[in-house]
Amino acid sequence: MHSFEGNRVTRHTGTEFPVFQAPIGLISRGALVGAVSAAGGVGLLETGSLPIPQLQAEFDIVRDRSNRPFGLHFLIAALERRPEQEKAALDWALDGRTKLITTGYGDPTRYIKRIKDAGAVTYHLTETLEEALRAEDAGVDGVVLGGAEKGGGNGADNLHTFALLQQARKRLSIPIVATGGIVDGYGMAAAFALGAEGVWMGTRFIASEECPWHDNYKQAIVEADEVISIDIGSRLIPKMRAVRNTFSEAVARGEAGDKSNPYAGDAMKLFYEGRTDLALVGCGESAVLIDKVKPAGDIVRDTVAEFWGEIDRLSSLRGVASRPLTPAAEA
Ligand SMILES: Cc1cc2nc3c(=O)[nH]c(=O)nc-3n(C[C@H](O)[C@H](O)[C@H](O)COP(=O)(O)O)c2cc1C
Repeated sequence: MHSFEGNRVTRHTGTEFPVFQAPIGLISRGALVGAVSAAGGVGLLETGSLPIPQLQAEFDIVRDRSNRPFGLHFLIAALERRPEQEKAALDWALDGRTKLITTGYGDPTRYIKRIKDAGAVTYHLTETLEEALRAEDAGVDGVVLGGAEKGGGNGADNLHTFALLQQARKRLSIPIVATGGIVDGYGMAAAFALGAEGVWMGTRFIASEECPWHDNYKQAIVEADEVISIDIGSRLIPKMRAVRNTFSEAVARGEAGDKSNPYAGDAMKLFYEGRTDLALVGCGESAVLIDKVKPAGDIVRDTVAEFWGEIDRLSSLRGVASRPLTPAAEA
């Protein structure tokens, strides 16, 4: 019988599985979060991009679909520039709405005391060991560690997940949730082998039925065999990845779009219209691993089933390894 009993992440989140749907401003809304939560994963509703009445409406959509736990995410860099929204969102979130607050892109210290006083737990998204250690010192309950494979922004010289997790597991006492390049239970099993106790998937959930983005965008991810890294050059987002195509190659060379802000102006409209020839298909390296648009609940369930299948397969290697390795040696 497989179970996550003893897993510190599920103990913190109250969910059945330590499988997070990563926050992506424009898609981490009620339908997606509700589907993930109903399937036993950790759905995360994004709080920075909506005024409180709309946030409450999205919250209600989650609750219509699921009575299981889910979290609320705070993108600190965006919120600290809008103190009124920041205060309103924090007051709203901590008024008994959730036991799980996740944060990213900024210093979590500004929220920790309030979150703890409200009896909630908090995880912070980090991309380097130094950031993770600082977050641990500040008092977060767990960190999400993002390797350079991940979607969204990345630092120019960030370590990739394989090295980053092994480096961090030696130094951190709090649980680690891995992100970057994970789309299924095979990636999840690999992350657990390297010290993680949970996974956080972004690109995988873009290619979900509940993601409100255009089908062309999802299809471009399904068909992607290659990705490209674009130097944005901003402090917050030095680099971002996109599906490699003629347009993204031109943006990377500085010959199309606005390289410092690829979604500026008309690009956002074209993006919503599914013009993947004229707007970037942002993604993580994991896009090359995704071959189907699936319901979000299936993504959670399939990931967990594959994870346990893979753990069983690896466990069975013990018996094999104790036998001679070649038929000749056996004879
Ligand atoms: C197109 C795209 C947009 C993203 N937008 C946001 C965002 O608005 N806020 C945020 O905190 N993270 C954002 N992310 C990062 C994800 O939350 C997550 O950390 C990342 O996708 C994990 O890597 P993966 O895509 O390999 O699973 C975005 C990622 C992608 C691919």
